[in-house]
Amino acid sequence: MLGRFSGFSRLAITRSAATTLAHPLSSTSPRFIASTAMSASITIPSPFDAHVHLRQGNMMKLVTPHVEQGGIKMAFVMPNLIPPLTVPEHTFAYVKELQAVAPNLHILPSLYLTNQLTPEHIRQAKAGGIVGVKSYPRGVTTNSEGGVGMEGYAVYDEVFAEMEKQDMVLNLHGEVPSDVDGDGTCVLNAEERFLPHLREINRKFPKLRIVLEHCTTAAAVECVKSLPSNVVATITPHHLALTIDGACSTSLGFCKPLAKFPSDRNALRAVVREGNPNFFLGSDSAPHPSSSKLPALQVAQVKGADGSTEEEITLPSPCAAGIYTSSNLIPLTAEIFERSDIPLERMQGFCSKFGRDFYGFPAEDGEEVTIKRVEGKKVEKAFKYQTDKGEDEYIIPFMAGDKIGWEIVA
Ligand code: DOR
Ligand code: ZN
Repeated sequence: MLGRFSGFSRLAITRSAATTLAHPLSSTSPRFIASTAMSASITIPSPFDAHVHLRQGNMMKLVTPHVEQGGIKMAFVMPNLIPPLTVPEHTFAYVKELQAVAPNLHILPSLYLTNQLTPEHIRQAKAGGIVGVKSYPRGVTTNSEGGVGMEGYAVYDEVFAEMEKQDMVLNLHGEVPSDVDGDGTCVLNAEERFLPHLREINRKFPKLRIVLEHCTTAAAVECVKSLPSNVVATITPHHLALTIDGACSTSLGFCKPLAKFPSDRNALRAVVREGNPNFFLGSDSAPHPSSSKLPALQVAQVKGADGSTEEEITLPSPCAAGIYTSSNLIPLTAEIFERSDIPLERMQGFCSKFGRDFYGFPAEDGEEVTIKRVEGKKVEKAFKYQTDKGEDEYIIPFMAGDKIGWEIVA
């Protein structure tokens, strides 16, 4: 089951504020002692999700308000729409649509890196409030066909140089496209094989602010740690929870990059546990209709040439990559911290301060979000909506139907 994490049982919950009961693991792992303070509530100054997909049309109308319901006040929004947001005017128009749906959400908009992008676009983008440029590896994930392929990143040097000058952020989906019959690149080593590109971009543009998005491997953590602090990484709650087993046992656990080995998950947990400010929350919350997440065999009854009835079978299409977490992101993150033995006092840095400091948007007073312990709150099983074609569809969130021990204080 997707929602069940291996290796940990649910922690006992006490309702007293900041008691210092020993954590079950504290005798073997002294560094966990700090996490034993069983706070009844946590207040986070203006939570920031540094990576979210808000889509288009009716799906956008459903999921954009969920961002605030999940406790987020500011969100860096991804540009992989249909068509992708490849020039600044596209992004400006999209921001207006989002603001009409969620006027109180502070949106940090982005552009999609393609070979159409010019230094002049970068100047226009900066002047219009676009914060970052997102690079996708070609064909690796949702709407990434216009992304970077085997030609590599050097073709973007002029654009990167202008971004460095304008102090814009480069947001990297850090995988190289699979080449299973060639150099053996596949979904399990695609992130590690991307890391030389990250090092090279940083070497050429040492002042360029770079985010390695949704990092999933110990190698990526080590790489970012070894680079200067203008190179950072986001981490998703689902990658703190899942390993390759969870990613393979149900298509609801399928996302890019794929969750990896337990040792990789340990490295992600460790860097969050130590409160490293160069690693912060980017949910990569990526909704897809359930027909794309759980594609089914379709069997139609058709009339054969001789008048008899035959079954016509349509095979399922490949499953869409993406895990949806926006609707309860902050409570879910607290839950996953506890299940991962990450001290809850790391929530403020991970979910707000570190990302805000990097992007240069400090939390403002009056935007604090408080979550409190609850006995066991069921995560929604699905959110129903109507597609733009008028069909009923469902978005299934991460840990759908599971109970979690936190909720937002209204
Ligand atoms: O799993 C993913 N889904 N990874 C991405 O990089 C894109 C995202 C989406 O847009 O669906
Ligand atoms: Zn994403």
